[in-house]
Amino acid sequence: MDYKDKILRLKKEKNAITLAHFYQIPEIQDIADFIGDSLGLAQKASEVNADMIVFAGVHFMAETAKMLNPNIPVILPDLDAGCSLADSCPIDEFKEFKKKYPDHMVISYINTTAAIKTETDIVCTSGNAVQIVESLPKDQKIIFAPDKNLGGYINRVTGRNMVLWDGTCEVHDILSTEAIFKMKEENPDAKLIAHPECNAPVLELADFIGSTTAMLKFTQSDDSKKYIVATETGIIHQMQKNSPDKEFLVVPSDETCSCNDCPYMKLNTMEKLYLALLNEKPSISLEAEIIEKARKPIQRMLDISKELKLI
Ligand code: 13P
Ligand code: SF4
Repeated sequence: MDYKDKILRLKKEKNAITLAHFYQIPEIQDIADFIGDSLGLAQKASEVNADMIVFAGVHFMAETAKMLNPNIPVILPDLDAGCSLADSCPIDEFKEFKKKYPDHMVISYINTTAAIKTETDIVCTSGNAVQIVESLPKDQKIIFAPDKNLGGYINRVTGRNMVLWDGTCEVHDILSTEAIFKMKEENPDAKLIAHPECNAPVLELADFIGSTTAMLKFTQSDDSKKYIVATETGIIHQMQKNSPDKEFLVVPSDETCSCNDCPYMKLNTMEKLYLALLNEKPSISLEAEIIEKARKPIQRMLDISKELKLI
């Protein structure tokens, strides 16, 4: 029996649900009960009716699922699956930073630790960040953390002047305009689609900017046949599956490969997923007090997203 069959059998036996992000390896995406971007995954986690969640993603995503489902185990196949954005915003430094802007509210990207969420007014994802900011009065002063690229993009789109925490995603920030110009020259018929975690010069070149789900939807509805994709390699699996007649080229992180993998997302393997289901560990554990505080800005995000019909 291969891992796929073993996982499917155990999932049924244990009444477990598997949630996976688009940056997971194709085999994991194919056995998941739900695949999505961070917003879709948070929404799905808020509706779970199962005895266990196995999260094929990174730590902050599993933590979010735990906050929304405190009474069932949430399993993450590799606890080392972190995130450079979440790591770029340590709680003590953030608290000091916040003190400098006492009249500002805090919007934080979902890519943060539970501790940062306890210091946050509204959580957002790349799928709803612009709309959440726009739902607030124009004169509302805002701290945006931790992604300065996403924050800068929102400032440009909305005309706001949010104070930005100086964090980046190492997987997106590394993508260069040089690599893109080279690809455009070789593929003049291709459109560039980019994730807002990319740096500003890359975003300036893009024909479309959006979350992983938004990029995927764009490639399904748009009439171009070829795309240069500025995000993590994993999304190509769904793009290719949904549009088999189109061509997708990932912007490489360096000259040694034609890929751009997130080292944290790619820590999850089919074997680890199987063992995690079997042993029901490693699991996410959070203090009740943290859950209570950190859940509020997540719930606020979900409520606003529902009101705005984004989910
Ligand atoms: P989305 O899938 O929500 O666009 O986020 C991308 C990402 O970097 C998740 O870690
Ligand atoms: Fe974090 Fe970037 Fe990896 Fe997403 S792609 S998990 S933001 S390091």
